[in-house]
Parts: sequence; structure tokens; C-alpha cells
Amino acid sequence: MIDPKTVKNKALAAWVEKIAALAKPEKVYWCDGSQEEADALFNQMIEKGSCIRLNQEKRPGCYYFRSDPRDVARVESRTFICSKNKADAGPTNNWMDPVEMKEKLNKLFDGCMKGRTMYVIPFSMGPIGGPISQIGVEITDSPYVVVNMRIMARVSPKVLDILGAEGRFIPCLHSVGKPINSPEDDVAWPCDPDNTYITHFPETREIISIGSGYGGNALLGKKCLSLRIASVMGRDEGWMAEHMLILGVTDPSGKKTYVTGAFPSACGKTNFAMLIAPKAMQEKGWHITCVGDDIAWIKPAADGKLYAINPENGFFGVAPGTSEKTNPNAMASCSKNSIFTNVALTDDGDVWWEGMTEEAPKHLIDWHGKDWSPDTATTPAAHPNSRFTAPIANCPCLDENAEKLDGVPISAIVIGGRRPKGIPLVFESFNWTHGVYLGAMMGSERTAAAEGKQGELRSDPMAMLPFAGYNMAEYLGHLVKMGKNLEQTPRFYHVNWFRKDADGHFMWPGFGANARVLAWIVRRQNGEAKAKETAIGSVPNYEDLDWDGMEFSKETFKELMSFDPETVAAQPLKEELYEMLPRSLKVQREALLERLS
Ligand code: OXD
Ligand code: MN
Repeated sequence: MIDPKTVKNKALAAWVEKIAALAKPEKVYWCDGSQEEADALFNQMIEKGSCIRLNQEKRPGCYYFRSDPRDVARVESRTFICSKNKADAGPTNNWMDPVEMKEKLNKLFDGCMKGRTMYVIPFSMGPIGGPISQIGVEITDSPYVVVNMRIMARVSPKVLDILGAEGRFIPCLHSVGKPINSPEDDVAWPCDPDNTYITHFPETREIISIGSGYGGNALLGKKCLSLRIASVMGRDEGWMAEHMLILGVTDPSGKKTYVTGAFPSACGKTNFAMLIAPKAMQEKGWHITCVGDDIAWIKPAADGKLYAINPENGFFGVAPGTSEKTNPNAMASCSKNSIFTNVALTDDGDVWWEGMTEEAPKHLIDWHGKDWSPDTATTPAAHPNSRFTAPIANCPCLDENAEKLDGVPISAIVIGGRRPKGIPLVFESFNWTHGVYLGAMMGSERTAAAEGKQGELRSDPMAMLPFAGYNMAEYLGHLVKMGKNLEQTPRFYHVNWFRKDADGHFMWPGFGANARVLAWIVRRQNGEAKAKETAIGSVPNYEDLDWDGMEFSKETFKELMSFDPETVAAQPLKEELYEMLPRSLKVQREALLERLS
């Protein structure tokens, strides 16, 4: 524990005092992020019945939680951008007047931590003391949040040293919103779904969240700070906070190229970030390493290039579908010192989820805590949004420069979504602005996990729809502007691993095969690979991809690379948003229509 008397930052001490007076916790505890502290918290939670220690031989240092079934995912409908002017939140965010929202929150926070401990978590997003990193402090009454934040961010007294007496931090206030007024209130997973608010105050760079204890609603360093608030800071300070993975590709010459990638949820972002090249490519010297799987902070450096860091220190990965086959690196990452939420429990104290093995174990305890058997089950054993929280240091393919304070140089940006029809496997943007246009028009087929009609295209510009902390049109304009000041702009590559044939079968095997597309992208960057110009961008010929060790016919490739003019010309944005786009992006659309005609 950090001794609060040693805290030099007056603004921080005053803020903590003010919140304690309002929320009225039983006590205040300053977290130091140590193993001893985490062990003590896990023990307390186990004693209370809200946590289960997993089989320590099979999963050393691993713990298991089940949430309230009403609190299982990010709630976009209760996420608000409280800018002074409604227009600054734009047509795709929920907005409420900041004064009005603060009044509402003040009432909800009054006494909301009664009977609970209020934890103060000093953390750094990005390596502590790095020039791109940011310091935040989360106040929470959830010990589950404390142990998760310890994995996802850098929690340490060193953060307070860097902050010093005058330094600025981003205040992140969180409560599960369930005071303990009687013993019945002391439930395993406290939450208040009817009074959940995830709120952001972009002008004052504050985050206040109440009512939910799950994921991005509660681990405030992640989506709230690293995307919504950071995107506003990036706009004001000339950098970018993006919903992107970062990976490194070593080519046969030994040269390393870094690539970022933006994909909406349920498009295999974590799998792509930890991709393993097919054997035949590995033998030639291709090797892929992971810097991050979800968020990139990207800044122009003195050399006129973009550099990126992963602000996170762990993976908060979707468990279902993750297996030794689909992503052995993710499986290794959560093999120790990890937290599992809403997966299923095996009889020998290990975890299981749909897709982990071909056959389900004969008996499980499901995410509701009930007996489950594959023979009688009518619902999945693990919740579709069940998660592992794993330290990034566990990742076998972690890039050697993942901790580099100045970040890694970015040479290409991959974007894409689930597009079953009309969109080819890969095409390259003509230039930066064309790339931003492709990002603006990004969309993905709705899966069963998302709200809305299945199969419908959900527009998700740059995969930032739920995460841009200001007007989406202005955000896209900021991206256009970012390219103008660079000496070297990365190319954008639109990829689609999800095209289906007339019978509804995926045309591309995905997973390891995606490394063949990645290799073409890197070789384009090196000036080694050819491409053919088309109306939508530059595309590889069959011969331009490395097919070593893979059977794929020229005819199928031709079909996979074809495009449907109507599909590529479609404009999926809300009309109101399209109208607000910068002129340069509308010009891109006009030029596309002309090329198509
Ligand atoms: C995530 C998401 O959890 O994008 O990373 O929803
Ligand atoms: Mn994400």
C-alpha cells in the first residue's frame, strides 16, 4: 500500500479527499500494484465468494470470476460524451450537458461506496515516464477492477514519482453504484444496470463511470482514457489515438516493418496481432511479433514518420473461439497470472469456453454457476463476451521493441471488416487521404453478438464508432490533416478475410494464410512486390503472393479479388455524418464513382 502521507501531488490528494467525502467509503486504500497486494485482494474476494482460485498446477496465479448476468459487456447506449456543445460530440455519440450530467452523477455518487473500500490506483498508460505515455488515477470501489487494472495498465508508486507535485493526471472515477446498506447488498458482483453511466468530459479530460463493473465500463484506462479522452488530446495536440493492433514483420532480409490494424469487434483483431506465419514462410525467414492487440497511440516524430506505442500492458481478450489452433500465442498468454471472467469452469478447476477444444468436456459449471453438459445444454457454457485478462509479458511472440518509450515506426495501416460479398481480399490505397476515405467507409457484417439485424452492414469508421471522444466527422478530418504534416505517409490496406462464395462458404482460410497478404504489404513497402491499379486501389496479381505450402487456384483467387461496383460504391455512413465530412473525403468518393463509371 502507498502511504497517502507520501503523496506530493496536491490536486490528486484533494480530489481523493473530495470523492471520499462524497462517496463515503468505509476506508480508503492507495494501491501500489504489488504482487502481495494482489494476493491479499484475491484472498479477500475468495473468502467473500466472488472469486475462485483456479487449479494452480494447471493455471498458476490464475483466478476466475462470474459477473451479474445483467453486466456482461460495454454498454454503448449508456456511454456519453459530455462536451460543452452538443455539436462537438457529433451525430454518432450520446451527449448530455456536462453540468446536467455532473448533477446527476453527484446524486448517484453520494454515499455510493458505503460499506466498501475505496481504492486509489495510480497508473500509466504506456511505459512509465515515456514521452507518449499518460498518467491516470482510477478511484474505484471494486477490488476486481484493481486486480484487472494491475494487468492492463502499469500500476506502481513510480507513477506518483513521475507525477510529482504539479503534474497533471487524468481522473478516472468509478463505482459499482451499490452501497452496502444491509448484508443483502454485499453480493458477489455488485452493479446497478438501471443507473449505469459511462461518461466522458473532453474539455476537462475527466472520466466518471457508475453502475457497471465489467470490462471497458470499469477498467477506465482502456476504452475511456486510451481512446475516448486520448482521441480528444490527440486532436488538440497533433497525434492519433486509434482502435488498432500493432505488429512487427521480420522479412527474409532481416528487416523489421511495423504495421497497425483497425478492425471492428469480432473480426479477429487479437488473432491477427499474434499471427504465426505458415511454416514454408517461416523457413524463408518471415517472423511476426506482437506489440499490441487493441489500442495504438501514434505520433509524428522529428524524422517525419509516425511512431506508435501500445498504451496497454495486457490483453483483455474475448475467450470463445480462442484455441491452440486459432491462436496459440493467446493461449500461452493466459496460461498463468491471468484472470478469467464469465468462462466455464471444469471439474478439475480449470477453464473452458466454446471453441477451445473441438469437443466440450462432459461436465462443466457454466458462467451462471450452473451444471452444464453438452448433451443437454441449450445455451453456451461460456458467455459470448467472456474474457481473459492476461499480462502482455506472457505473450511468446511479444516484440522486442514493445516497451520502447518512443514507439515503433509505422509503415502501413491495415483496415477491414467482415464483408461476405463484393469486397476483395486486399487492396492498397492510392494515397493517405484515399486511405482515410476507405477507413471512413469501413463497415462490418453484424454478428449474433451485436445488436441489430444479423447480416446487415454496420458502419464503423476506422473501427472507432464507439470510441471517438468527439465528432466523428471532425475525427476523420483530423486523420486527413495528420497525413499533411508527414514526410512519409504509411499506405492503407483494406483487407477482407470473410468473403463467402455462392454456397455461403468462406473463400479464404484466414488465420496463418493472412500472413501471405501481410508479406505482400511489407514487400510493397520495400519496393519488392508488384500490384495492378484498379478503380478501387492497387491489388496483387496471383503471382505477387507467396503460395509456398498452400494450394489456392488462380480461378478462386480471381474471384476472391474481384469487386462488385455497387458494393464498393455504397455509402454506409449516416447521411447526417456524411454531410459533415471534410470536402477532401467527399472528393475521394466523387473520384471513386467516376473511376467506376
Ligand atoms: C474490445 C472491443 O473489448 O473493442 O476491445 O469491444
Ligand atoms: Mn477493442
